[in-house]
Amino acid sequence: MIKLTFLGHSAFKVEIGSYILLIDPFITGNPQATVSPEDLHPQYILVTHGHGDHFGDTIDIAKRNNSLIITVNELAIYCSQKGVKAHPMHIGGAHSFDFGTVRLTQAHHSSTIIEGKTFIPAGDSAGIIIDAEGKRLYHAGDTCVFGDMKLIGEMYPLDVALLPIGSNFTMDIYEAVQAVKFLNPRVVIPIHYNTFNLIKADPEEFARMVPSQTETVILKPGDTYNL
Ligand code: NI
Ligand code: MN
Repeated sequence: MIKLTFLGHSAFKVEIGSYILLIDPFITGNPQATVSPEDLHPQYILVTHGHGDHFGDTIDIAKRNNSLIITVNELAIYCSQKGVKAHPMHIGGAHSFDFGTVRLTQAHHSSTIIEGKTFIPAGDSAGIIIDAEGKRLYHAGDTCVFGDMKLIGEMYPLDVALLPIGSNFTMDIYEAVQAVKFLNPRVVIPIHYNTFNLIKADPEEFARMVPSQTETVILKPGDTYNL
């Protein structure tokens, strides 16, 4: 069983057996967060891209817990230079870890770390597919809908897809519904909405528009979904 706990925005705690993974742990400054970074003790932190609302507390949590960061090559090198462990990957590549397999997928977005007035390019923005315990989970990261989501759905039949619906920076509901049609997951969970005024969206409206063969699960921050 995989235990998926929504930490607000795009952040998740993923428990696979005795392993704890975080995805995009934006906790500090996340108005939806129901935990504090000190409460999180992951062995692994998976990051889709370098923007603050995804990279978030990655370095601090990794330092405290000796976690391994799994992310796009350039962002992984940035993490290594900050003195934490990182495993570099790139889009289309997969690697087996002790908890399961991670594959990075395309996402149409940017990836930059901003330190004061300095903009640090952090490589490509990605999505993440996790295979573990016979289940498959896809976190789309930040992206628009794109036609190759159909390819992802065909090559990697999905149990759960985590898709942004908040618009402005990512897909809105209209695009996310098309993404569901392309991906055809068993379950879709909307993310990246209502954190800030700019990304307000109604998940119930999204649920009404999703084709009936896919179940929409709406998680409140702190909620857990077992798959
Ligand atoms: Ni972003
Ligand atoms: Mn974002």
